[in-house]
Amino acid sequence: MNKSQKLLIALLGVLLIFFGFVITRIGIAKPASTVKIAKIPAGEYDPAVWGKYYPLQYESYMKNSIMEPSPTGYGGSMKVQKSDMMPEIKTNFKGNPFSVDYTEDRGHVYAMEDIKETKRIGPKSPGACITCKTPYLEKFYQESGWGYAKMPFAQLADQVPSHGSISCANCHDPETMNLRVINPAFIEAMERKGINVTKASRQDMRSYVCGQCHAEYFFEPNTIRVVFPWDKGMKAGDMYAYYADKPGGFVQDWQHPDSKAAMLKAQHPDFETWSTGTHGKAGVACADCHMPYMRQDGQKYSSHVMTSPLKNLDAACGTCHTQGSDWLMDQVKTTQDYTFEVLHTAGQNVTRAHEAIKKASEVPNANQEELANARELVRKAQWYWDFVAAENSMGFHNPDQSLNTAAQANEMARQAIDAANRAAAINSL
Ligand code: HEC
Ligand code: HEC
Ligand code: HEC
Ligand code: HEC
Repeated sequence: MNKSQKLLIALLGVLLIFFGFVITRIGIAKPASTVKIAKIPAGEYDPAVWGKYYPLQYESYMKNSIMEPSPTGYGGSMKVQKSDMMPEIKTNFKGNPFSVDYTEDRGHVYAMEDIKETKRIGPKSPGACITCKTPYLEKFYQESGWGYAKMPFAQLADQVPSHGSISCANCHDPETMNLRVINPAFIEAMERKGINVTKASRQDMRSYVCGQCHAEYFFEPNTIRVVFPWDKGMKAGDMYAYYADKPGGFVQDWQHPDSKAAMLKAQHPDFETWSTGTHGKAGVACADCHMPYMRQDGQKYSSHVMTSPLKNLDAACGTCHTQGSDWLMDQVKTTQDYTFEVLHTAGQNVTRAHEAIKKASEVPNANQEELANARELVRKAQWYWDFVAAENSMGFHNPDQSLNTAAQANEMARQAIDAANRAAAINSL
């Protein structure tokens, strides 16, 4: 080999490394959906079967079984009672099963197990409760329409095999792998807002697949249909106004045994809170943070471990933010601490309001008009408190709105106490 041949080889080597690098970089920027599509037949709900064709996504989905605390101390993937941190849960939900058993959410693979175990579900529970736990929902709805909602829960749960917890078919069309939504309650609520989810953009679908379950709902009396109360808007006040119209004859979730107020229970309004927040309005999808792109053996894929993004902060936030992980972690933690502080105070004042109303109602000749006023105020205060407490991010999905909602809850709880004291003619000032 002469000198110029050696030079040529060296040059080729450099070029190879350079283009190799460029190709890899381009690979990172490309959407991951370049995977080879295997036509899985409709009605296949076993994730292990899907996993044969999509092993990286399946392996990462299986990691939803990992149980560990969140780095912030809020949320987390362990089955702990929420009332350990907020004891007011026990008094504010008195008379409702949530006062007895209200555990922190954990990974998707546990959804069926956890719903069967919870003390909130009994022999009388309706089939509607299965809506957000399994892809077999598609089958039940195809067979019976909304009729499934009225069937006994146990009868439906018995038809769901052990692989039947939330999985691939909840979010993907088996034949095309396109994202899809199967919860009819979400589809109907979006339709009422003028949105056809089958025509949604890919970026919108990256949130809709989560929003079909991570949302507020109620069971319509008589039909037991699942309804999302979104017709007047996505904030606590909008939904309170919607419930005030007694939709489909729905008045209350339960009556509080102390205050005798007609109460509402909020259910994880994650989608709603996110949609009116900084990231939601900027078009940052749930999947952008909760399903960041990963790389293994040169292949790029979306993480299917749906858990706290902070366990994987660089991948989850670093694609858009350059502030560094310490700053980001501190920002999240500060938001959550501030939210928790106001929320916890509000929750304790709601408890005091229930107690004050009980006391006032036992006073002979108590002013009935003021008592009714106090009951309306405690219902509203608790709804606002619960809207933030039942949401899963402790304020992060929408920091300023969460603080505002919790602060309003606190103020209304104080007003309820004042009204109760006026009813009993107690001078509290
Ligand atoms: C079919 C309904 C359904 C869909 C779809 C769904 N979830 Fe969930 N999700 C649940 C339920 C139910 C739980 C609680 C399971 C338990 O505690 O047993 C849960 C739990 C979680 C948790 C808590 C896990 C932990 O480690 O603490 C996160 C985070 C989460 N979901 C995010 C998402 C994201 C992001 C999406 C969309 C990409 C999504 N979910 C789609 C129903 C759903
Ligand atoms: C900008 C990033 C971002 C977006 C977008 C986002 N989240 Fe989150 N989410 C977070 C962070 C940060 C937390 C707090 C995690 C913690 O405390 O460890 C969180 C917490 C959660 C939790 C509770 C996890 C736990 O540990 O119990 C759930 C459930 C959840 N998000 C669902 C959603 C859903 C559904 C959407 C879309 C409607 C969404 N998130 C959009 C960043 C995001
Ligand atoms: C809670 C919803 C949800 C579940 C459950 C789910 N996926 Fe996904 N999946 C997504 C989202 C969101 C994307 C990103 C799609 C996009 O950006 O176009 C995705 C992407 C994919 C892709 C495209 C390549 C990639 O990694 O981005 C494949 C293949 C895939 N998922 C397979 C599976 C398999 C197999 C299962 C079951 C073991 C599964 N998914 C369960 C929501 C889900
Ligand atoms: C897809 C892009 C994207 C991702 C991923 C993302 N963000 Fe953001 N983030 C934004 C945009 C856009 C804004 C709006 C302000 C701006 O333009 O800088 C924002 C604003 C913020 C703010 C200030 C406003 C507020 O709501 O408090 C914080 C804090 C923040 N992001 C934290 C995070 C964290 C933590 C993660 C990861 C869990 C994350 N972001 C992931 C795009 C993103």
